Amino acid sequence: MAITFDEGRKIFKLDTDETTYLIGVTPEGYVGHIYYGRKLCRPCGLQLLRTDERPFTPSVMAREKANFLDCFPMEYPTGGTGDFRESCLDVLSESGQKGCELLFRSWTVSDGKPALEGLPASFEHRADESAPSGEERLQTLTLTLADSGLGLEADLLYSVFPAENIITRSVRIRNVGTEGGKYTKSQVLRLTKVNSACIDMEEKNFDMVTLNGSWARERHIGRGRLNRGIQGVRSIRGETSHQEQPFMALATAGTDQGNGEVWAMDLVYSGNFEALAEWSQFDSVRMTLGIGGTNFEWRLQPGETFTAPEAVLTYSAAGFGRMTRQFHDFWRKHMIRSPWLHRERPILINNWEATYFDFDTEKLIGLAREAKQAGIEMLVMDDGWFGHRNNDDSSLGDWKVNENKLQGGLKHLVDEVNAIGLKFGIWFEPEMISPDSELYRAHPDWVLRTADRAPAESRQQFVLDITRKEVRDCIYDMVAAILRSANIEYVKWDMNRQLTDLGSAGLPADRQGEISHRYVLALYEMQERLVTDFPELLLENCSGGGARFDAGMLYYSPQIWCSDDTDAIERLRIQEGTEMLYPLSTMGAHVSKCPNEQVGRMSGFETRAEVALAGTFGYELDITKMDPEERSRIPGQTRKYHRFHSLIAEGDYYRVHSWNDSAPYDCWIVVSKDREQALVTFVQVLGRPNAKRYILPLCGLDPEAEYEMEDVAENAQAGVFGGDELMQCGFTVPMLGDFSSRLFYLKKK
Ligand code: GLA
Repeated sequence: MAITFDEGRKIFKLDTDETTYLIGVTPEGYVGHIYYGRKLCRPCGLQLLRTDERPFTPSVMAREKANFLDCFPMEYPTGGTGDFRESCLDVLSESGQKGCELLFRSWTVSDGKPALEGLPASFEHRADESAPSGEERLQTLTLTLADSGLGLEADLLYSVFPAENIITRSVRIRNVGTEGGKYTKSQVLRLTKVNSACIDMEEKNFDMVTLNGSWARERHIGRGRLNRGIQGVRSIRGETSHQEQPFMALATAGTDQGNGEVWAMDLVYSGNFEALAEWSQFDSVRMTLGIGGTNFEWRLQPGETFTAPEAVLTYSAAGFGRMTRQFHDFWRKHMIRSPWLHRERPILINNWEATYFDFDTEKLIGLAREAKQAGIEMLVMDDGWFGHRNNDDSSLGDWKVNENKLQGGLKHLVDEVNAIGLKFGIWFEPEMISPDSELYRAHPDWVLRTADRAPAESRQQFVLDITRKEVRDCIYDMVAAILRSANIEYVKWDMNRQLTDLGSAGLPADRQGEISHRYVLALYEMQERLVTDFPELLLENCSGGGARFDAGMLYYSPQIWCSDDTDAIERLRIQEGTEMLYPLSTMGAHVSKCPNEQVGRMSGFETRAEVALAGTFGYELDITKMDPEERSRIPGQTRKYHRFHSLIAEGDYYRVHSWNDSAPYDCWIVVSKDREQALVTFVQVLGRPNAKRYILPLCGLDPEAEYEMEDVAENAQAGVFGGDELMQCGFTVPMLGDFSSRLFYLKKK
């Protein structure tokens, strides 16, 4: 049983294969966090809840509520009644007064996992996969807590995924009003902050790890000592953002890839969030994650429920590497629904960096012909095919083909590309509108804007108010009509600015604070429609590069464009941070031209391909104009993709070395689940004169087996090694020059 309840001690025990999570209920009904960590064989008691401490007023013999609440390790802390640390839930009553106190009412354990209304959420099995026989069923614990003064109930949901060592959490807040005579009042409640998860821990000399960045520099790993007080990351940009990721890990000092304890949380959500850690006066550390309370408000009428997004928690006693693999397995098994998950993705060529807006039917067909010869399998027509868009100052919202550019129409182009032997994909930016568009001229009130000023432009565009049903339906219908008009097998769904001017003409004054969350719900509704109406479509999400690389998007699309920075060396940091949480099969990665468009760097053509091989793989350059010697290498690269793709997509990922560390090279290895084969990618970032060759200890192999090593570039055997030798002693890599790479393939003998 993954979930048990000790009736006598009032302790809930949630067990995965290697972890235990304990929740206790005090005699008054406070629900406290007892423990999360390495698996416990026996139940432990309530002593860890510190219920008999009397901070602040030690002279008062009886425990006083305010002081008690300020040191009690809460499962779901609320604001306004005595716990002055970061709260998860803040509520204003109809009188405008703040305060909420949740006490335990009841519990249930059920098999499986309820869906979260309108939100992406993990599931037990994909629709096309049946439960492996003998596997333990997924269980969900629901704890119902209530504030009888407010007439509010909260369900805390915990689902336990034993094999992946994952516990998911989410929360349903109900305004129960006078229901069943249990509560005296019926009033509108204003939720001003709702988080999804909290862990209260004893301070353990933690490092805080987050993923941070900017446009073209997304998800660099940030790590530093946790200090007293509050630290954290958030987005109030209306999307996940280039800048921060809804993720936080606390790790014991010195934790590396293979050693040390890690507690991590990631949010299944694509909008505003807060991930905070607070080291309190009594040396406890509280980590919270959720939508948070900035740019958030929700009016809950009697009888209504608000559902908070899912937080995914994992614990590793074996460093960051174990955390990463637990997340990867979880997303692949329990979050990504696309039928493309285990399929080989077509190698694509995207015309963005090849042509930008300057293309027509003939040019695209020329690109497709050349691509076919090189072994590329799909042409993606990016921005600029609609309205009169010849640069980025017009036509978003006018999703009608520009037949001046695409002479003969879209179907003609797609048929021609198909006849050449390539699939066809297309770009949309459905949530946006250009001031210079027919749509804007017809519906100026369809943009997000406040009554007091003109909305701010960004990339010369406004944000469509998709919280309004008529707006999202109109856009969706245009997108669907295009998709039905030709054999389009892939969509890149882009979003190229952040949300400002949070005003909607479709909402009353007292609901304007709901826009950010309503926007995300609307986005999810549109994407749900898309994948339901076009079940075979390969959807790739994107946001000005990688501003919406999050678990919520993975529920709809099996791959996400990682960054507009396609330079192989910049990509090392971006991909290392992304891979820390998400499977390699989800990272959109392309080979582009040199000097690189973003940093001007020259790197080897093979290096660019070998770094992109870690992702979904494709090209983003004009192959009709490139150096013939380089072009002649593309067929070899596409063969490599086919040879290694399933290993990379399905295997276990281990980070061997990061070029952020002491020596200037990067190395990772992907090992098949059965440890029969593995692929090592080594990238020499900078060469060094007169240096010793590096010896790299590998990871994840079978220590008892012998492996044949192939130097893939040389197509030659590089030796036979014991798995233990490769892991304990390492292998000596060749010394390469600046920005160059090598692949080594290992096969069990
Ligand atoms: C964003 C995307 C790019 C490209 C452009 C088109 O920046 O990240 O890949 O699609 O938009 O305008």
